[in-house]
Amino acid sequence: MDREQPKGIMVSTKFLLFLPLILLPIIGTQANDRFCLGAFSNTTILNDTYHRNVNGALSSLISSNNSKGYGFYSSSYGENSDKVYANGLCRGDLKPAACVTCLNSSIYALLEGCPNNREASLWAEGCKLRYSNHSMPGNVELLPSSTSYSSKNVSLSSSVVEGFNQRLVALLGELKVEAAAGGDVLKFAVGNASVSIYSNNVSTIYGLAQCNPDLSEMGCSNCLGEALGSLQKYCYGNGFGKYANPSCDLRYELNYHFFAPANQTVPAALSP
Ligand SMILES: *[C@@H]1O[C@H](CO)[C@@H](O)[C@H](O)[C@H]1NC(C)=O
Ligand SMILES: *[C@@H]1O[C@H](CO)[C@@H](O)[C@H](O)[C@H]1NC(C)=O
Ligand SMILES: *[C@@H]1O[C@H](CO)[C@@H](O)[C@H](O)[C@H]1NC(C)=O
Ligand SMILES: *[C@@H]1O[C@H](CO)[C@@H](O)[C@H](O)[C@H]1NC(C)=O
Ligand SMILES: *[C@@H]1O[C@H](CO)[C@@H](O)[C@H](O)[C@H]1NC(C)=O
Ligand SMILES: *[C@@H]1O[C@H](CO)[C@@H](O)[C@H](O)[C@H]1NC(C)=O
Ligand SMILES: *[C@@H]1O[C@H](CO)[C@@H](O)[C@H](O)[C@H]1NC(C)=O
Ligand SMILES: *[C@@H]1O[C@H](CO)[C@@H](O)[C@H](O)[C@H]1NC(C)=O
Ligand SMILES: *[C@@H]1O[C@H](CO)[C@@H](O)[C@H](O)[C@H]1NC(C)=O
Repeated sequence: MDREQPKGIMVSTKFLLFLPLILLPIIGTQANDRFCLGAFSNTTILNDTYHRNVNGALSSLISSNNSKGYGFYSSSYGENSDKVYANGLCRGDLKPAACVTCLNSSIYALLEGCPNNREASLWAEGCKLRYSNHSMPGNVELLPSSTSYSSKNVSLSSSVVEGFNQRLVALLGELKVEAAAGGDVLKFAVGNASVSIYSNNVSTIYGLAQCNPDLSEMGCSNCLGEALGSLQKYCYGNGFGKYANPSCDLRYELNYHFFAPANQTVPAALSP
């Protein structure tokens, strides 16, 4: 599919950065050592023990006994202040084999790109991966976040843009509720809404919402609320938008059916 280059923004606690993003955010230029975002970064060397534990936590991640839900894995390695926690989550429509492949290649990308940071996150097309010095079971973590979006309005007409935006917000709001209510192994929802943009045909907005399944319903709802706020802020009226943080994801596309058709959805299994 021929798409324009997305624009993007990544936010960590200490810096705000505007840069062009592909679906996999590319660069996190760090003023500090807290976060490595994306696969490639100027790194800060911590100590060898921590570094070894990052390797240990990531390389033991995709083991069946680390699976806490459909396509959701967490692991830890090391002790005390050097203990490293990792977790990975596959998009809810990925089949188990595709999930493992996505996480596995993300692990290598993250080890290569962000080997010596205290925390790092990587968002790939089908999964996301993270390591940090603290565990986050059930916690909503809003940072670091990544938002990428089209720079173009779907139309030059402001009434069309407004109509589109209303449909979009309604769709994403429904997906938010549905994903949050998903239960403790999978919090995932996809859907579509038709919208009139051109006079000669009807367009379709496709949306996806997902939370880490260990969040509470309210935690998930709050996280996706934040996501929706960010998409509204940066991509009001734009043809696509994608938000991700360690706890949840929200994405929409116009006329691009980017997730597996509902009747083919087979969530990544609890264990391989
Ligand atoms: C990282 O940044 C520091 C300071 O900005 C610079 O001296 C160093 O060469 C950079 N390292 C790499 C691998 O780019
Ligand atoms: C869980 O997996 C780890 C390594 O992947 C292994 O060392 C450990 O024995 C496993 N535990 C159980 C209960 O299977
Ligand atoms: C680094 O090494 C020292 C000594 O082993 C340890 O006390 C410290 O907590 C380590 N970890 C980090 C993240 O600095
Ligand atoms: C994981 O990736 C490595 C390196 O790309 C590859 O050698 C290995 O076979 C992969 N393992 C799985 C289970 O896909
Ligand atoms: C993780 O590292 C940060 C930054 O050094 C530190 O403030 C925080 O206390 C650490 N958390 C844990 C649980 O060790
Ligand atoms: C998009 O449309 C809205 C509403 O018409 C307008 O306020 C905004 O400036 C437009 N943005 C761009 C990038 O054209
Ligand atoms: C929209 O989703 C419904 C199921 O909710 C499905 O039946 C329909 O085919 C989808 N429409 C498009 C255009 O993908
Ligand atoms: C709808 O019409 C517009 C303008 O004529 C065209 O660019 C677009 O490709 C059409 N979309 C579909 C889904 O047919
Ligand atoms: C599921 O989708 C396939 C095409 O992808 C279609 O042939 C089939 O009829 C669908 N089944 C149901 C139950 O909707």
